[in-house]
Amino acid sequence: MDLEDAFRAQAAACGRLGSPMYADLLARVADALGAGGAEAEPFARVLAGHEDAPGPSGLALRLAGSVHRLVLERRAGALAAYYPSVGGTWEPEGGWAAFTALVADEPEAVREWLDRPPQTNEVGRSAALTAGLLELGRETALPVRLVEIGSSGGLNLLADRFRYVDDTGRGHGDEASPVRLEGAWTGPGPWTDPDATWPSVVERTGTDVMPVDVATTAGRLTLTAYVWPDQTDRHERLRGALELAAETPPTVRRQTAREVADGLSLVDGTVTVLWHSVMWQYLDRSEQDDVLARVEELGASATEGRSFAHLSLEPRRRTPEEDHQFWLVLRRWPGGEPRFLARSRGHGVPVDWPSGP
Ligand SMILES: C[S@@+](CC[C@H](N)C(=O)[O-])C[C@H]1O[C@@H](n2cnc3c(N)ncnc32)[C@H](O)[C@@H]1O
Repeated sequence: MDLEDAFRAQAAACGRLGSPMYADLLARVADALGAGGAEAEPFARVLAGHEDAPGPSGLALRLAGSVHRLVLERRAGALAAYYPSVGGTWEPEGGWAAFTALVADEPEAVREWLDRPPQTNEVGRSAALTAGLLELGRETALPVRLVEIGSSGGLNLLADRFRYVDDTGRGHGDEASPVRLEGAWTGPGPWTDPDATWPSVVERTGTDVMPVDVATTAGRLTLTAYVWPDQTDRHERLRGALELAAETPPTVRRQTAREVADGLSLVDGTVTVLWHSVMWQYLDRSEQDDVLARVEELGASATEGRSFAHLSLEPRRRTPEEDHQFWLVLRRWPGGEPRFLARSRGHGVPVDWPSGP
């Protein structure tokens, strides 16, 4: 895929995923690259040398994130007026003029973040995690040890401290939480069970090959910059979770998924939950196989008094043309039968719990 096509593909994806601003902005970058000459020149200059950034359309999100970071740092001048994340309003003509002016005038600043992969921590995915924990609570009353691989900033380790509002308008969890997920759950999920008990999390362990330290300004800036500027719900969720994290900072160790699985053991009187969301595709085949083999081993050693669960929210699609669906799948031992629980959107909400088998 050439650069123009990559920007166009990412623009279309942003449109489908609810960011009209990036759909417009990135399509305009694609047009400029396609036009060539003076129109393409500022973009070709900043993107030079990064054309092979990994991941489909990876460079488009790197450029967008790098510019957004300059806006958040108040280093983008007139462009800030068009960014909803800092109180502005996207307006295509003026926004595009300010964007191209920044890229043309500050190429070095714009290039600063092009060599790093986008790094997000999607707080909305906690809706799936908590739904999974509620389902688990129907099978075992044991307190939960939460162990996450690919945690990023570890914000989803605080999932039980968020407020969830289901499709009937009923709220669940801490009413005073700074994180409120409206329309988090739809369908006849475990939250509709009058006997459902809120998960009791006794241990939280975050791990990642590239952890983000949310206790630092740089860490918070990283996570904020890659949230699309016109997606105010995502920004609010992130802000709320960062506020909670400031009181109870999640610990995220620098470890590969394989290392975590290898070092994991079960503890009497608890259910150990190995959880991950939207990270499996980053593991190569041999690491995936090793993690799954260790999951089987741990499962085989589990008892009702020392239980183990593998809970995942990962994208699936049957053909490369199809959009991803995000499946919440639970296995619990003793037993270990895989159970498809629900589907969610890429950014987490809503979690749709099917009514039939
Ligand atoms: C798309 S982010 C998802 C983060 C978080 N789970 C969420 O849902 O918001 C994927 C994360 O996986 C991490 N990652 C990539 N390869 C990994 C590996 N081999 N072991 C552990 N984490 C890895 C990345 O550093 C990144 O933080």
